Order: sequence, then C-alpha cells, then structure tokens
Amino acid sequence: MSSPSASPAAKRSRTDAPPGAAAQATAVAPARRSPAAGAAPGRSPPITKTSPALAGLRPGKSPALAGAGLRGRSPGTAQKSPAEILSSKKRQRTPPSADRRDRPELPWTDLVCVGKGTYGEVYRARPDDARRRTQGTTVALKKFIQRDDDWGFPITTLREHKILLQLRHANLIRLHEVYSPSSSYKSPVFMVFEYAELDLEIVIQSPVVRTIDEPRQKSIVQQILEGVHYMHANQVMHRDLKPSNCLITRKGDVKICDFGLARSYKPGHAYTLPVVTLNYRPPELLLGCRHYGPPIDVWSVGAIFAELLKREIVITGRDEGDYLQKLYALCGTPREVDWPEARKVCKHWREACGVRGVEDKVTTEPYPVAASVPRRRRVLEAFAERSEAGAKLLDRLLALSPKKRVTAKDALDDDFFWEGAPPLAAGDRSLPWDCDLVRASRDDTQRSQARARQKKAQQQQAAKS
Ligand SMILES: Nc1ncnc2c1ncn2[C@@H]1O[C@H](COP(=O)(O)OP(=O)(O)O)[C@@H](O)[C@H]1O
Ligand SMILES: [Mg+2]
Repeated sequence: MSSPSASPAAKRSRTDAPPGAAAQATAVAPARRSPAAGAAPGRSPPITKTSPALAGLRPGKSPALAGAGLRGRSPGTAQKSPAEILSSKKRQRTPPSADRRDRPELPWTDLVCVGKGTYGEVYRARPDDARRRTQGTTVALKKFIQRDDDWGFPITTLREHKILLQLRHANLIRLHEVYSPSSSYKSPVFMVFEYAELDLEIVIQSPVVRTIDEPRQKSIVQQILEGVHYMHANQVMHRDLKPSNCLITRKGDVKICDFGLARSYKPGHAYTLPVVTLNYRPPELLLGCRHYGPPIDVWSVGAIFAELLKREIVITGRDEGDYLQKLYALCGTPREVDWPEARKVCKHWREACGVRGVEDKVTTEPYPVAASVPRRRRVLEAFAERSEAGAKLLDRLLALSPKKRVTAKDALDDDFFWEGAPPLAAGDRSLPWDCDLVRASRDDTQRSQARARQKKAQQQQAAKS
C-alpha cells in the first residue's frame, strides 16, 4: 500500500483543524505504517497462550457471565424503572466468593456482557495488576468462539486484527492484545480493546438521552470523519460503518470499532458484494457496482449523521428493493446526467434508469432496482428544520454519485463545523449522562419493543386461525 505521509488534520485547508478538534489533532496517528512496521516490537499485540483459564469463561460457569446472561430474562423487568433495573443488575453481577476459589484465574476479572456480535460476545472486564499499567482499569474483551463446524479461524477476526495492526488513531478503537487460553483450535480467542462506555446506537435510542445538542452532534460527526479520513488516507475502507460501530467513551471521545469487514483499497479493484449493513448502504452497492471505494464509507457517515439529527433510522426498508425506493424518495432517482460513469460500473444501472436494455435483462439479483415513480431530491428540505448547515453537509455526504460525494477530508472543512456554535473540544466533552443508566434504559426499551412485536405477531396469528 502506498502511503500519504501527512496526518489528516495537517492536510486540511482551514487552519490546523476545525474548532473542537485541536486536542485531538495532536493525537492523530502518524503516517501509515507498512504491515511489517505495524508489527514492530511494542506496537504489535502479541497472541498470548497462557494459563488454562478457559473454565472461568464458559457461559453458565462464570458467575459474572451468568449474571450478565440473566439480563433481559428476569421476570418483571418491564415494570421496573431504569434505575431499579440497574441496581438489580449490579447485584446479579457480584460473584459468590466460593466460586471464585474454584475457578482458574484469567488475566481479567468482573466480566459483564456489553454487546453481542456476529462471532461472539463483548465483555467489559478489569485487567489484573500486571496488565493494568498498559491496559488501564477497564478493557473490552471481544470473545470469538470456535464452533464445531468451523474450519480454522474466522476470516473477519483475522482481517480485524491485521487492519488494526496497521492503524493507530484517536478515533479508531485501540487493540491492546489478542489472547487465547490454549493452543487448541477450539479454544476461544479474545481481542482485548480499550473500553468505551457507550455506542452511538445506544445514545440515539436511549430515552434517558433527551437531547443531543448541536455542539455535541458536531463533535460526534467530526470525530467520525476524522477516523474515516485517517482510514481512507491509509487506503482502508471500513465497509460497515453504522451507529453501533461508533463507540463513545464517557469523555465524549468517538472510537470507530468492528473492522471485521474492513479491507485495504486499491483503485480499480473489484470487491465483494454485498457489504455494509443495509440501512447504511450506498446506492452504488445496491446497483451492483463492484468497483467501489472509500466513498461507500462517506455515504454511511451521512446516514449516521442523518440518524443523529432525527434520532431514528432515516433510510430503511424491508429488503433491498424496498430500501432502494426509500433511498430514491429522499435522495432522488439517479440520472445519467448526474452520474455518467454509472452506466459502466453499475451492473443494474440501465434498469435503475428505467431503460430496458437487452444486455441488462439478465440479473441474478432478486430485488427490483427501477424507481416505481421518478423522485426529486429532498435532502435539504427534509433536514433544514433541524439544522440548515447540517442539511447542507448531509446533502454532500449523501450524493448519489460516489464521484460527486464529498470526501471525508473535505467534509471536515465544511461550514457546518466552522459556523455557529463550535463542536465540543477534546477534554471538554465528557458525557452529561449516567452511562450505565443510558445503556440500561435502551436495553429495557428494546425488550419492551420486542415483547410488543411478539404480542402483535401472536394476535395476527390468532386472527388468521
Ligand atoms: N471496545 C469496546 N468497548 C465497549 N463496547 C464495545 C467495544 N467493542 C464492541 N463493543 C460493543 O459490542 C458490540 C459488538 O461489537 P463489534 O465489535 O461491533 O462486533 P460485531 O462484529 O459482532 O458487530 C458493539 O456494537 C458495542 O456495543
Ligand atoms: Mg458491530
């Protein structure tokens, strides 16, 4: 990979950095390192195989995990206030001392499940004395379980590890080490990360967070863009940006995580489809473009920003076809004049334009891509009421043509960050909410919604029979 040598902040045209980014700019990582440089001593998280501590981590055996596993299953939580749920959770987490004696020690204790992902679970934990010096008082353990039917290590985990070795930036999650208790291929593997109290999805959905004011919105979007610009400057595409992959520490610092789909980018290369979670997926991917690049991440940042403004997912659909119609309804029907190269790079372009081209009749995609009716673009009017400058930036982030879409670097120079109230500065943006309460209230809301959905489905079933 060839490398730009200047840090993102140093490249910007208006002074050093937008307001609020000053402290962060000093923390921006240096020039991209080659994989070999990334593996230099002291930088590369070693794969550790140490004590047979596995038993302490089997769900159901560890009191801490069992406590965490109870979350959402305890009867009657719907009637409790978030504060009550929180205090009962604290009680569940305290492991009985007898069990502590029997269990082989891990280098981390007090594990609490804070997230569930594709390949395993994420726990908050405390490092032992030896690790506390380098890892701080709290870490996140992302645990990968080898299933019986798996052959070898999950490719997403390997990718995540490889990419994270190359990247170091204040707005990308820091990987401390990779740990496996035994050399057995079925042994769980832990990626040990710095800990962030919340993710943006939780913040957006939590009823405890009543308002997210404009300086904080600016600070969040600015930090995401800083991280994305750094990745792109290092020829890496994230390919799964969404609110749940944007973590927020109690200090208000944003950390992009989940590099399982990330890939290095080479211009002209054809990549896999589909990538990017549907609600954050740009139009070129849905129109069958495999020669995509960093602009796919910029679209996702636009979708995240829109969600932050409205406090709900802005473009969403039952499936790809439905999602595309919603996308056209907000961003307009794509036109050849706005996106001339689409005919060449998007397999389904002619269908999308409603042109019945013989060569494009054959498609393996199950979803329709043509707009049901021609739509006009209405991004500016849909968001102007919330924030006029924000709507203008959004319009640039959600450009249909990837060529016309603003880059992360230029977006950082947008008027949104420079006019009106400045973004909250590093060191001055600690979260004003109780993070445990925010998390608990969101979990509780999700459970109530799930119960309501289940009840509705049962009623519909009963009505049918
Ligand atoms: N370092 C971390 N600190 C705190 N919570 C985290 C951390 N990493 C992940 N999480 C939580 O776990 C969830 C799933 O983790 P993620 O890395 O996105 O896994 P997956 O690839 O399975 O989506 C995240 O959405 C977040 O809520
Ligand atoms: Mg994730």
